[in-house]
Amino acid sequence: MKDALAASAPQAVDARVYHDLEIFAEEQLRIFRGPVWVYVALEAELDGPGAFKSTFVGDTPVVVTRDGDGALHAWVNRCAHKGALVCRTPRGRATDGSFVCVYHQWAYDAQGNLRGVPFRRGLKGIGGMAQEFDLTQHGLQKLRVATLCGMVFLSFDEKAPPLEQFLGEAMCHYIRRVFNRPVRVLGYARQNMRGNWKLYSENSRDGYHGGLLHLFYPTFGIYRPSQESAGEVDEVGFHNAFTVSKPSQQDGYESYQREANREMSGATAGAEMLHDPSVLAFRPEFDDNIALLIQSLFPSVVLQQIQNTLATRQIVTRGVDETELVWTYFGYADDDEAMTRHRIRNINLVGPAGYISMEDGEAVELCQQGTAGTEGWKSFVEMGGDGLVPRVEPIGLDENAVRGFWKGYLSLMKGAAEVLP
Ligand code: FES
Ligand SMILES: [Fe+2]
Repeated sequence: MKDALAASAPQAVDARVYHDLEIFAEEQLRIFRGPVWVYVALEAELDGPGAFKSTFVGDTPVVVTRDGDGALHAWVNRCAHKGALVCRTPRGRATDGSFVCVYHQWAYDAQGNLRGVPFRRGLKGIGGMAQEFDLTQHGLQKLRVATLCGMVFLSFDEKAPPLEQFLGEAMCHYIRRVFNRPVRVLGYARQNMRGNWKLYSENSRDGYHGGLLHLFYPTFGIYRPSQESAGEVDEVGFHNAFTVSKPSQQDGYESYQREANREMSGATAGAEMLHDPSVLAFRPEFDDNIALLIQSLFPSVVLQQIQNTLATRQIVTRGVDETELVWTYFGYADDDEAMTRHRIRNINLVGPAGYISMEDGEAVELCQQGTAGTEGWKSFVEMGGDGLVPRVEPIGLDENAVRGFWKGYLSLMKGAAEVLP
């Protein structure tokens, strides 16, 4: 399948990359277990000694823990004995600091070191491990951990550059902006998409579809193409940040609707269509007037501020044609109750059934289905040119960041074309 990769360019991608199992396996190796940093958690989810979260890097099960001294650790969730999942709950607290595999009770500490093996010395001289069996040689596979402003990232690869260097200054700026003070997790949503993970990675970098697919945006005055907005990509193209500013003057839903290319069925009266228009309310809380920030960090997380909805969307690869998106919603630790209620109400805009995001899962599935069985068919990603520029203004009229994703992706997958059949 190497020709599918070799034939692909950032502006024209061979659709077999969404379907091929060998390419999927190479991605796990070269991308998810390669020289990158993969987002897995918020530090706020790991509050206090013994806290843990089990999750995935690509399709590899991993666990992030906090030890008794408050330090973070991570390991592959695969028992060193026979490979069983050691940690079987999504989140929790190991009160005695140990993680015990249910199968034969091998016990590990928060750092992933093996601490105990039942019947290690046998019983009455029978059985047991060899005398030279060394606990230190049978721990869990440990991963690198790095954090930025409370976002936790893991890496399998010693060659991954320092996290801030990997993300680049522009992306770090927007991360610092959102995480300007301690946050508190409000809840989760999980979304299963029957499509390849890269279709979602493209989707979150695709400003072109925003006002066209998601009719809630123009119908209810949240976004229109003429609004002040910008898109920034890092040098390699891996990462992207879209920002849309709040209009300086509210000029009515009608003016947004005039710019929409089609009408949401039945929605002619803007907010009056809604029984509770408070879902649309935006309470500015940053000094830069940005009402919408969608930041896609390679390979597998989106950090968003959509009005007052703050969330990470973690992409988990469940298979070549199946992707899970885990939404973690949060607010600030110092939010009062009214603000927390407002954020939770605002969450109706996003998530698997969100007014402005429910169509994305469907778009992913449509592309997966439409590209099945192709032999050398390529996408056409030339909106706004065929190259990559660091910044576009406004968004919505180009596919710059989608080309950026493919440029980054292909740079990591270069070697795969040589080893695949
Ligand atoms: S598989 Fe974990 S102890 Fe045997
Ligand atoms: Fe979308």
